[in-house]
Amino acid sequence: MRQTILKLLSEQDTYISGQELSERLGVSRTAIWKHISALKEKGYEIESIPNKGYRLLNTPNRLIPEEILRNLKTTTLGKKIVFFEEIDSTNTQAKESALDYPEGTIFLAEAQTKGRGRLGRSWSSIPGKGIWCSVLLKPSLDPTFAGQFPLLTAVAIAETFHNLGVDAKIKWPNDLLVDGKKICGILTEMGAELDRINYLVIGFGINVKHKLEDFPKEIRTIATSLEMVLKKEVDRVQLLCDILLKLEKYYFQLLKEGFEPIRKLWKEYTCTLGHEVKISRFNELPLFGKALDLNPDGSLLFELPDGQIINVHSGEIGL
Ligand code: BTN
Repeated sequence: MRQTILKLLSEQDTYISGQELSERLGVSRTAIWKHISALKEKGYEIESIPNKGYRLLNTPNRLIPEEILRNLKTTTLGKKIVFFEEIDSTNTQAKESALDYPEGTIFLAEAQTKGRGRLGRSWSSIPGKGIWCSVLLKPSLDPTFAGQFPLLTAVAIAETFHNLGVDAKIKWPNDLLVDGKKICGILTEMGAELDRINYLVIGFGINVKHKLEDFPKEIRTIATSLEMVLKKEVDRVQLLCDILLKLEKYYFQLLKEGFEPIRKLWKEYTCTLGHEVKISRFNELPLFGKALDLNPDGSLLFELPDGQIINVHSGEIGL
């Protein structure tokens, strides 16, 4: 109901009367007034003039469901939004309630108190500055395909950044860097049986509005944000909607055509292949060698100094 009122208001540059709204929505004028008051509380600037009606003057510059749904062009991803002003971690929340929500649900927070990164690290998620989002997917696939999803997400986000004029590169497997500094991280988690995925939670954290001092001291030399790169304001709502649209496109493409088209795109955006690198791994000794190619399952084809060729399935390059 509130979403429809918002839609009707934003389609019009002039006033729309309480009477017209109540007739079109089939509810009382008091009910309309209550919804308008709730929207004002959320930060919508709505002018109300007796005998004329309501007019939308300004929308809040916040990542709230009403704004996302107003701009979203997907068919599945983001159609259901679980929003938190502040939460421990959107990935944790998505995993805990994965079975209660449909495919495509997104879990979104303005701030995370225990944002999680890959390899057991934490992820700084201060309020109002970034996009902290987890997407719930339920593909009918074998768990061996799960490794393709973070790569697919990295491609969707890299392409969205390129459309904004940001030359982002993918560091294997799925870090997004601009000028060597991290701008986006992806954490994919899974609930599965041996032969089928029950759900995937794809969490991405994007640094959007940060100034240098907004990052914890220890990452200031290695992190950046979209606004630091572009030197102009970025609309987080539009950005998230653009990412979800691309993510949905590549997700459906993966289900239909397999990983090969995504793999090709990943190779266009990566800065890893062809380089001598060090790979740090969880609980294992680091590896030194040359990154040769991306395998069809998302692992890295890697040449050790003695010429031996191996597949590396997880790790972090360059630490
Ligand atoms: C990494 O680069 O280490 C991955 C970072 C992933 C951060 C995102 S923010 C939204 C989602 N919730 C989390 O707790 N983590 C992911």
